[in-house]
Amino acid sequence: IASAREAARTAPTLEALRTLMENFDGCALKHTATRLVFADGNPQARVMFVGEAPGRDEDIEGLPFVGRSGKLLDRMIAAIGLDRSKAYIANVIPWRPPGNRTPTPQETQVCLPFIQRHIELVNPDVLVTLGNPSTQALLGTREGIMRTRGKWIDYDTGTRTIRAVATFHPAYLLRSPSYKRLSWQDLRAIAKVLQ
Ligand code: URA
Repeated sequence: IASAREAARTAPTLEALRTLMENFDGCALKHTATRLVFADGNPQARVMFVGEAPGRDEDIEGLPFVGRSGKLLDRMIAAIGLDRSKAYIANVIPWRPPGNRTPTPQETQVCLPFIQRHIELVNPDVLVTLGNPSTQALLGTREGIMRTRGKWIDYDTGTRTIRAVATFHPAYLLRSPSYKRLSWQDLRAIAKVLQ
């Protein structure tokens, strides 16, 4: 297990990383999930979105954000003036947790080197974390999304610094649509940086 995580840190390409993850046996979630949900969109994109973990629809299709939250994420991407062919999308956890429960801290720690290398390989100009779990796992903040959203944070890959920003998770916006206004503020700020 430790060696697979070590190998992830140096996977030379996205394809190599995907193969490593498909062969990885150190995360229990893999055994209850239908399949690996690696990523969607364009690996050359300038902006990368990272969510929490696949849900039911994603587990079936093998692609991130294809269910209801995914439809809203598409609208968030459109608010930046882009679509999925000009954005890249992945999750911190690549296997669906049973019944969509929140991943445990241990599961998150086990999977973290994969998404970290994933980000390093895509090397976007802007990294957008969606919601608390993704933001806390990747940006190392302890504060909640209300405080962290919309603030630019340096994300250090070890070789490069990427501009990162958190915004609300689309599933949260579906439950609390009044926060869409703030999220759209964040998206406008992202569009500006990408200009
Ligand atoms: N929620 C997430 O965080 N990721 C998905 O892929 C789908 C829903």
